[in-house]
Amino acid sequence: LIRGVILAGGSGTRLWPLSRQQLPKQFLNINGVDSMLSATISRSSPLISREDAWVVTGDTHASGEAFSELDGLNLILEPCGRNTAPAIAIAAALFQDLTNEDPVMVVLPADHIISKQAAFQRCLKKAVSAAEDGRLVTFGIVPNHPETGFGYVQTQASDGDVMPVLRFVEKPNLENAQKMLDDGNYFWNSGMFVWKSSTILEEMREHLPEVWELLDAMRKRWNGGEPWQEVIRTTFDQMPNISIDYGIMEKSQRVSLVAADIGWSDVGSWDAVHEMAPHDEHGNDISGNVLAIDCKGSLLRSEKSLIAAVGLEDVIAVETPDAILLCKAGESQRVKDIVDELKLGE
Ligand code: GDD
Ligand code: MG
Repeated sequence: LIRGVILAGGSGTRLWPLSRQQLPKQFLNINGVDSMLSATISRSSPLISREDAWVVTGDTHASGEAFSELDGLNLILEPCGRNTAPAIAIAAALFQDLTNEDPVMVVLPADHIISKQAAFQRCLKKAVSAAEDGRLVTFGIVPNHPETGFGYVQTQASDGDVMPVLRFVEKPNLENAQKMLDDGNYFWNSGMFVWKSSTILEEMREHLPEVWELLDAMRKRWNGGEPWQEVIRTTFDQMPNISIDYGIMEKSQRVSLVAADIGWSDVGSWDAVHEMAPHDEHGNDISGNVLAIDCKGSLLRSEKSLIAAVGLEDVIAVETPDAILLCKAGESQRVKDIVDELKLGE
């Protein structure tokens, strides 16, 4: 039995002004076909059916602008964000308690792009079989720059497709990221994980006792007859704020990695969108109401007003009905600083 856990609670601030508090990037249609959330669910089919996919997200989204994206899905609604470890813990416990089964959980962030679907499905199958043997499996991406926003996974060379992990380093500083890139034995952690729900609960008990104890108390209440949604609504804010990467992956002794050449991007920034999107012959990525003359290497995107551009090079311009972003290509990580400034002014 396999179940999907779709993490969709993030705020995606670096894709401002398209991504907003009310409608963060996982609910947006960035590729022109479907939302990132719905693409996440459909690319795992038929291994995981829509009925076996559970979306974990903030409760405000269930009635807000994202409602149409969530309608008809299995939902676990958080009254507040506590990062990924508590979100995953709740899902693991519910799977065991609601059905008395011990499914393999495929944990997928709802805001990634994967362009090689068949390769992804092959990796998923390998990961599921390692998970059945009690491993915590992550998908490794060959790194191409010293990204500090990712986790790094050191593997032991092995003959098989599933490699034992020696070390997991979450979000290193630039110096260490560069060292691991040069070393050649490190992968990026994709942030997608596969494990049995009993395995991750055992690891929580060992490495995140604070999460495990509160979870244990919650389970006693819902197994005693209180509606589980209500238990989560009233207790979840007591969870510590911690990611699965810092909380478990850096500490566990039973991590394995499947090397995944799957055309992956976490679409973390406008530069990442620019890298993924189809380009014209001058390296531009142009969409919407845009007239561009003699532009190079630029991402120009307008929802409504006409963007008319002449002679631009390496510029990111994103227009929405109430805001315009202008940014030098290569600097779009700093869009987060704009959102922080705006929040200060609120
Ligand atoms: N339900 C829920 N609740 N989901 C959440 C929460 C939360 O409180 N916080 C984050 N998420 C979701 C996000 O929407 C995203 O889909 C996923 O969990 C991962 O969270 P991010 O905040 O995007 O993590 P990150 O990008 O900084 O780092 C992770 O992903 C990298 C690859 O993109 C780590 O796993 C890194 O090691 C990894 O390299
Ligand atoms: Mg991310």
